[in-house]
Amino acid sequence: MHKRKSRPQKRRRRSIIAFEMIRLDRTATEPLHEQLYRQIRDELKSGRFSDGSSRLPSSRTLAIDRGISRSTVRLALSKLHAEGYLRSKAGSGTFVANLLPETFLTADQPKTYQPIQRPVRISDRARAIPDRRVGHQFDLGATGAGPGVSLVASIPAVDEFPIAVWERLRAQVLAKKGVNLLRYSSNRGDVDLRKAIAAYLCDFRAARCHPDQIVIVAGMQQAMLLSAMAVLNPGEVAWIEDPCYQQTRRVLSLAGVKIVPRAIDTQGIVIARSPKEPLPRMIYVTPSHQFPIGVTMSFQRRTDLLNFAGAHNAFIFEDDYDAEFRFVGPPLPSLQGIDNAGRVIYAGTVSKILCPSLRLGYVVAPEQLVDSFVKIRSAMDQHSSPIEQATLARFITEGFFLSHIKRMRKIYADRRDFFIKQFNELLGDRFTLQVPEAGLNIVAWLKREEDFSMIKRITSDIGVRPSALSFFCIQAELKPAFVFGFAAWTPTQIRESLVKLASALKNHGKDLDYGRQSR
Ligand SMILES: Cc1ncc(COP(=O)(O)O)c(C=O)c1O
Repeated sequence: MHKRKSRPQKRRRRSIIAFEMIRLDRTATEPLHEQLYRQIRDELKSGRFSDGSSRLPSSRTLAIDRGISRSTVRLALSKLHAEGYLRSKAGSGTFVANLLPETFLTADQPKTYQPIQRPVRISDRARAIPDRRVGHQFDLGATGAGPGVSLVASIPAVDEFPIAVWERLRAQVLAKKGVNLLRYSSNRGDVDLRKAIAAYLCDFRAARCHPDQIVIVAGMQQAMLLSAMAVLNPGEVAWIEDPCYQQTRRVLSLAGVKIVPRAIDTQGIVIARSPKEPLPRMIYVTPSHQFPIGVTMSFQRRTDLLNFAGAHNAFIFEDDYDAEFRFVGPPLPSLQGIDNAGRVIYAGTVSKILCPSLRLGYVVAPEQLVDSFVKIRSAMDQHSSPIEQATLARFITEGFFLSHIKRMRKIYADRRDFFIKQFNELLGDRFTLQVPEAGLNIVAWLKREEDFSMIKRITSDIGVRPSALSFFCIQAELKPAFVFGFAAWTPTQIRESLVKLASALKNHGKDLDYGRQSR
């Protein structure tokens, strides 16, 4: 028998009731202590505080807040005590009773709304967003990666984030800039951060830009939304890769754009089109390594794409979301760096380099677009947190950014090698890996297509959750495959997950054999 581990005692959170709504009338004939007693009792009867952890303010505080004597407060409280509304705990104060006298009799319930008979009218815009989740499914965020679930695509190793360094720099910038970081701030973003990012992109992504072209945004999604809103009217066409990052579809739908999916071949997005197909105003691509397939866009396709965009007056949106994690060959320059015509809107994010919860990213906008981007951002949510922006600026200029990228590249390279080796050993009979040169995901193609539904069900049951490649497809009809993430799990966890998956698949095979024999 397993012995239950004794869990550390958690302190219950206690809320202090403010009784802000109490109004005492000194001109009334009803004595003040009666008024106080009655109003507190009614608040407690409302049921809002009946979880036993709600504490009352001290009689002294109540007396000062209400401008009455302490003896008036004591009279009211002692009556509530006597009637069973309150309980005292030595040394801790006075609490709402766990069960109020009326709990089973007359306690008023908070007002509930009558269910609406007619279906609520939802805007076309909200309905057009392709997202099948409902209710609490949104609580896990767009990736749906809950605790205890492994090998989910696109999750970085956030436990490696240098929290202590970040906290120290944050404290330093707050001490130095003080209240300036508490005000509304620039819609372009922190000036030091824009300088630091421009320098980083010119050095490490061969971008060609100056700080005034940088707009700080709340991650890649917002970069896409701003770009779509700046260059496309509702109903105008954007090409996107198919299969594609699912958030791209959602964001462009929100912007009211007409999405035209484009196939991917071995060189990247396919440009050739029939004359009947509408021309795009914007083309979304992931040239460093296509999401989710992993293809790196060839040099030829890059120049063809730039020429095509120039010839048709379209913009290219370059999503460079984790280009820093390239494991094979020299780093590739960004598309923006070889654009001579101001056609590329380049965007990066710290979601993979640092952590996604910071919600920070950056756009390098062609000069003529900068003002429109800033204008839209100012109408949207103004800016990202000045405190986090200033901290990130320090993090970059003091060298932590580069050293963190270097360290993470090594960790991810080791995890990637380990994943590939273990995967081929344990699951090579069922899947063929397509190993990309870069990125934190690997596509595994099924050797027997008919296994797909069974594997999908098993992965969901055992909490090893690669995404089905079909989840990212719009029109593309690709052979069945799964997209595995390897980055956020240690080698031990990777091995455990792969062993779990391999043995679940083996046991399923045995069950089938047994079923056949016993038929
Ligand atoms: C293709 C692609 N772009 C961008 C992102 C990150 O976007 P954000 O900065 O909004 O977190 C992801 C995350 O998985 C992605 O897969």
